Amino acid sequence: MLSAQGLQGAAETVWQQVVGQWPDFSVEVLPELDSTNSELMRRGRAGQTSPTLLVAERQTAGRGRLGRDWRTVGGAAPGADSLTFSLGLVLPAIDLSGLSLAVGVAVVDALHPDLGLKWPNDVWLAGRKLAGILIETTAVGDQRWVVIGVGINLLPRPETDLRTPPAALCEVLPQATVASVLQAVGPALARAIRQFTQAGFADFQAAFARRDVLRNRTVQAKDRAGQALQGVACGVDASGALLVHTARGVQVINSAEVSVRPLPPSPLPTPSAP
Ligand code: BTN
Repeated sequence: MLSAQGLQGAAETVWQQVVGQWPDFSVEVLPELDSTNSELMRRGRAGQTSPTLLVAERQTAGRGRLGRDWRTVGGAAPGADSLTFSLGLVLPAIDLSGLSLAVGVAVVDALHPDLGLKWPNDVWLAGRKLAGILIETTAVGDQRWVVIGVGINLLPRPETDLRTPPAALCEVLPQATVASVLQAVGPALARAIRQFTQAGFADFQAAFARRDVLRNRTVQAKDRAGQALQGVACGVDASGALLVHTARGVQVINSAEVSVRPLPPSPLPTPSAP
C-alpha cells in the first residue's frame, strides 16, 4: 500500500484513480496556506465548485472542531510531521449527519487495522488521537458545497500542550510518508463519498462498530453550554448518532457541537466491614 514517492507524484496517482468518478476533479499541492478548509470554503462561496483535493505542505492557521486550532509543523519531505488536506465537492441535499463517521471509516480502513474511531470523527491509536476530520458546508443553490478536511499525524509532536500527547502513524507504519498516506487515503475517501451518497451512513454502520473505541466505555458528553450527560456508550444508530445508556434510558446524541470523552474506569467499591 505505502510506497515512497513525492507529494506531487502521489497527487498525480490520486488524480488518475479518482478522475473516472468525477471528470472535472483536480488535485493541488501548495507549499503553504492558512487552512485547506478555509481556502476551499472561500472558493465554494466564490462559485468555484469543481471537485478539488487540496493539500498544504504547511498550514499557518489550521482549524479543528469546536473552534480549536489544528497545529502541525508540516513539510513535504519524508520526515514531515503530518498530512493536511481537504476535499471540496458539491453533494446533493441528503442527510450529511453520518458523513464524518463514514470518512473516518475510509481513513482507518485505508491505513491500518489497529486504528480506532472515537465518535464523531477522531482517529485513535492506543488511546490517543492520531487524526482529525473537520467537515464544513455552504449552500450552492439547492445542493451543498461540502469541504472535508483531514489532518493525520505521521510523527510525534513534542511541543504539544495537550493533556494526552497525540499518537503518530509511525508507531504502526514506520515507513509512512505524507505522499504514501495521501496515495492510500485520497482514493479511499472518494469511494466512501460515492457509497455514502448512494446508500447513506447505514452502509458504514457495521464498519464503524468494528472500530468504535467508545463502545461499552463510560463516557461524558458535554455541549457548548456545559450541559453534561454521563453513561455507557453503546454504539451508533443508522444515522451515525451516538447512543449512550444512562440512568434515564438510552440517549441519542447527534450534535457535532458535543464533545465526548471516555472516563477512566471507576475503582471497584471496597467491601464494607461487617
Ligand atoms: C479535529 O479533530 O478537531 C479536526 C481537525 C481537522 C484538521 C484538518 S487539517 C486539514 C484541514 N484544514 C484545516 O484547517 N483543518 C482540517
